[in-house]
Amino acid sequence: MISLGIIGTSGITEQFIKAIDETETFSLTNVYSRTETKAQKFLDDINKSDIQIDTDMDKFFQRNFDTVYIASPNALHFPEAKKAIENNKNVIVEKPSTSTVREFSILDELAHSKGVYLFEAARHIHEPIFKKIQEVVSKHQKDITGATFSYMKYSSRYDAYLAGQNPNIFTTKFSGGALYDLGVYTVYDAVVLFGQPERVQYTPEIIESGIDGSGSLTLKYSDFDVNIIIGKTKNSYMSSEIYFGKDTLILDNGGDINHLDWADDNRNITDIPTVKSSNPMDAEAKVFAKIITENDKETYENLLKYARIVNKVLEQARTSAGLVFDADEEK
Ligand SMILES: NC(=O)c1ccc[n+]([C@@H]2O[C@H](COP(=O)([O-])OP(=O)(O)OC[C@H]3O[C@@H](n4cnc5c(N)ncnc54)[C@H](OP(=O)(O)O)[C@@H]3O)[C@@H](O)[C@H]2O)c1
Repeated sequence: MISLGIIGTSGITEQFIKAIDETETFSLTNVYSRTETKAQKFLDDINKSDIQIDTDMDKFFQRNFDTVYIASPNALHFPEAKKAIENNKNVIVEKPSTSTVREFSILDELAHSKGVYLFEAARHIHEPIFKKIQEVVSKHQKDITGATFSYMKYSSRYDAYLAGQNPNIFTTKFSGGALYDLGVYTVYDAVVLFGQPERVQYTPEIIESGIDGSGSLTLKYSDFDVNIIIGKTKNSYMSSEIYFGKDTLILDNGGDINHLDWADDNRNITDIPTVKSSNPMDAEAKVFAKIITENDKETYENLLKYARIVNKVLEQARTSAGLVFDADEEK
């Protein structure tokens, strides 16, 4: 198994650890946290012992583990991933991997020059259900007439924001907002299924902290449009859809996809059988570990190509709406 260090001790890291245990792909050996107490509590909660804890990031990266999983607030991904690569670690970084295209290009170049892997953890594109969507889209490629992707979920941290607190994901300091959170999944949908759009336009509903609480995004392709609805300040139960003239592929959600249907012109709706793991991070853990173990450069470069385009689309969308992050100031 590949030895793994982690940065971030919240629920998503716990879920990733469950995934690596279930898939027997990586083995947790090192934890970085800002406080020893928090790291120890995290390890107690997940029933792990004999794991090395560091509260000094430089010391952490000098340890002898192979790959780091970074699940810190978005704006910290770049400096932490950069430090990891400089210390010859492979990097699995939560989405969005960076706040700007400039940051992404630096990591991309550095990872290649150091000969380590850089993975953006866009979990859903690795799941069997997404592979099924790719299969259907590829079979009906010439009939595609557009798509609508929706992912809008009232954030568990929005109440704290409304109460006057400053949760990281609702700040420009940490590159928060709907687009750079749930929006990442839906942009991945479009980029993996249809490639790079020709034009991008984002219309956000900006909240007082300066980030987009919700918004609608249009990606223009040569023959069709993809419309995206995202949000962290309300709940939507809308399906997502991919159009093939009179026929429609229906996804129950744009980022957390659990069910697929095919609808024809007469409203006959047929269920498309698919497989869904109870932990949506299992599939990415397996893919990343296989690439590292087999040194599978072809699959890797393909994933990196998606990540480059997604990061570009996110920045184009943000720029089109005048949304500014602290990370935009060159450091
Ligand atoms: N793939 C998915 O399904 C999924 C789901 C949720 C989130 N995510 C991604 O995971 C990342 C983390 O999201 P989250 O909601 O867990 O973030 P978060 O709770 O704000 O922070 C995550 C961790 O980062 C550290 N941290 C928090 N504030 C910090 C600060 N001011 N300075 C330095 N470190 C800080 C904390 O660890 P310590 O206290 O131990 O240092 C915390 O456990 C984001 O990039 C998000 O997009 C992905």
